[in-house]
Amino acid sequence: MGFGATITGVGAYAPPGILTNEDFEKLVDTSDEWIVQRTGMKRRHIAAPHQATSDVAVPAALAALDAAGRKPADVDCVIVATATPDHLFPATACLVSSRLGIEGKAAFDISIACSGFVYALTLAASLIRSGLYNTVLVLGAETLSKLVDYTDRTTCVLFGDGAGAVLVERSSGEDCFLGSDLGAEGADPSLLYLPGGGSRLPFSANGKAENRRAGFIHMEGKAVFKFAVNQMAHSTRAALKQAGLTPHDVDVLIPHQANQRIVDATVKMLKLPDDRCVCNIAEYGNTSSASIPLALADALRDGRIRKNSIVVFVAFGGGLSWGAVVWRWKDATVGAVPPEQEHPYRYPPFGAKAGL
Ligand code: ACO
Repeated sequence: MGFGATITGVGAYAPPGILTNEDFEKLVDTSDEWIVQRTGMKRRHIAAPHQATSDVAVPAALAALDAAGRKPADVDCVIVATATPDHLFPATACLVSSRLGIEGKAAFDISIACSGFVYALTLAASLIRSGLYNTVLVLGAETLSKLVDYTDRTTCVLFGDGAGAVLVERSSGEDCFLGSDLGAEGADPSLLYLPGGGSRLPFSANGKAENRRAGFIHMEGKAVFKFAVNQMAHSTRAALKQAGLTPHDVDVLIPHQANQRIVDATVKMLKLPDDRCVCNIAEYGNTSSASIPLALADALRDGRIRKNSIVVFVAFGGGLSWGAVVWRWKDATVGAVPPEQEHPYRYPPFGAKAGL
C-alpha cells in the first residue's frame, strides 16, 4: 500500500504595517474608487524596512507547527515558495530552517512566482507519497513591497507582504492529496518579471541611475489578466479531472488573490455558487505565493472549511505559470503566532520608502 499525505497544521503572518488606498492617493495619481473597482483591494500589509522574506516566513511556520502539535525537530524538509527571496542565494528555506532550529534537513526554495504555493504543495505531497519523507513544511512567503516602484501607479497599488505555512505529514488514514495540475509557458517572460538582478542583467552591470527600474516588478497587466481568467478555470478543471471530480464537487475554492475580477470570472466559468470561493483580497492585496495560504487561514478561522471538505487551491503567475491542487480537508486548524514574533513597528513616512 502506498503512503498518503495530509495537512496537519496551518500558520499565517501578515506584518502589522498597513497601506490603504487613501495612502496611495497621496503618493500617485490614483483613487480609492479606481483601485476598488479594478482590483477589489482596500489595504495591504507591508513589511518594515528591517523585515525580509525569511522574517515574515518564520512566524507563519511556528504557527503551523503549533497547530499541528509538532516541534521543528519533527520536520524532514522545508520548502519555501517565494518570488522575493532574502537573497538570490542561499535559498530562503535554509535561513528559515536555521531560525526554526531545524538542522541538517532538506531545505530549498521554489521560484515560480504566484504559482509557488500550489507547486510546493504538490511537491511536498509527492515526497511524502514516495515514502522519502514523513513531514514537510511548506511556506508561501513574500515581501513584494521591496520590489515595487512606488512611483508607478500601474503596479504599486497591487502588492502586499505576508506568509502562510502548512505542515504536510504522512497520513495514518486516507490520502488527502487528490489531484494536481501544474504548467508553464515561458515564451514571453517580460509579461510579468523583475528585469534585473539575475544573470541576464546583473545589478553589478547595472549601476546607472536611469536603470533603477530594472530592480522593480514589471507587468503587462492586461495580457496577464486575460491569461489568468482562462487559465484559472482550465487548471481547476484539469486537477479535478485527475481527482475524478467535477466543479460540482468543490466545497471551497481558494484562488490566488491577484484581482477580484479574475476571481469572479473564474467562479463564473466554473459555474460555482459565489459562497464557495474564498476572497480576502480587500485586506491583503496580491501577496503572490503567500496569498493562498493566507486565504486558507482566514477560511479556517471563519469555519468555512469542515472535515472532509473538498478544497481546491488554484493559482497563476509569472512565467507565465499556473497550477491547481485538489485536497480533502481533515481537521487541521490555524496555530497562533508567538507574541515575540509580531514585530510591532511604526511605518516610516512614504517619501522615505519611495526614495522621493
Ligand atoms: N490608478 C488610476 N488609474 C490607473 C491605475 C491606478 N492605480 N493603474 C492604471 N491606471 C490607468 C491606466 O494608466 C489606464 O489609463 P489610460 O486609459 O489613460 O491609459 C487605465 O487606468 C486603464 O488601465 P488598464 O491597465 O487597462 O486597467 P485594467 O482594467 O487592465 O486594470 C490591472 C489594471 C488591475 C493591473 C489589471 O490589468 C490586472 O489585474 N491584471 C492582472 C494583474 C495580475 O494578476 N498580476 C499577477 C501578478 S502576480 C506575480 O506573479 C508577481
